[in-house]
Amino acid sequence: MLGRENPLPPVAVTTGAGPSPAAAAAPLPAAGGTATTRHFLMCPPEHFAVEYAINPWMDPGAGADRAAAIRQWEALRSAYESLGHRVSLIDPVEGLPDMVFAANGALVVGGRVYGARFAHPERAAEGPAYLEWFVRNGYDQVREATFTNEGEGDFLTLDHVILAGTGFRTDIAAHFEAQEFLGRPVVTLRLVDPRFYHLDTALFPLNGHNVAYFPGAFSPGSQEVLRRLFPDAVIAGEDDAAVLGLNAVSDGTHVVINEEAAGLRSALGRAGFEVVPVDLSELRKAGGGPKCCTLEIRG
Ligand code: ARG
Repeated sequence: MLGRENPLPPVAVTTGAGPSPAAAAAPLPAAGGTATTRHFLMCPPEHFAVEYAINPWMDPGAGADRAAAIRQWEALRSAYESLGHRVSLIDPVEGLPDMVFAANGALVVGGRVYGARFAHPERAAEGPAYLEWFVRNGYDQVREATFTNEGEGDFLTLDHVILAGTGFRTDIAAHFEAQEFLGRPVVTLRLVDPRFYHLDTALFPLNGHNVAYFPGAFSPGSQEVLRRLFPDAVIAGEDDAAVLGLNAVSDGTHVVINEEAAGLRSALGRAGFEVVPVDLSELRKAGGGPKCCTLEIRG
């Protein structure tokens, strides 16, 4: 087993806002690229359940199988470790069934931690829990958010820009707050389809300079912005989006993606990426996929 056991491995204290390893990598063509080692924060789904409905995927009547969710989550964690990525763990909190979706816990860029402020009261306590993890692990540039934002659910970081979603969860004012705190340009994108309520359900960075996305999740103006910024993007169809195929994690070479996203898997293969399929069907019952379970710590 490659799995690392509790307690948490030590986390280096990072200061300043120098370029992340990803930002330092040479620009690469659209097809494939060089994998860079990532540091991820994950939360075991020990208390996972579908007990309330705050997005159209959730049906409290149908619930979810926690044991299956734990097995699937362990396989995701193993996949990352097999690819050479470092995985740190945060202790799950009882009564917070969505805390497994670590991506929503914060946005960390250049060692600066911008805290989450959840839109729904059911998840509100997750914000301070994640922030406390960072403080405890030596991060000293930590900002409590004034405006509603759900971390990496709605903020996706590329080399020169941070893409930010709004429309369902994250307040547009948080986009500016993040820009000022992180010192990086933030581009606002409007989400229009309630199935794709977070930016990371509709788009993922392939590397530091290109993305894959489902155009139908965005307003016409935001679609045009995406076409201008990413003329070589991998375009996903509705079938792939509907299995949360865009909720994927790329290290520049390997793309960890829901196995059901058949069309997108082929398109990524043709574009030169190595596809690593995972089954997160149980977590999808809460509206989450691989990326939702994964908060990237960008030093
Ligand atoms: N049930 C959670 C919610 O609706 C799922 C969060 C998924 N996370 C994500 N990064 N898209 O808030």
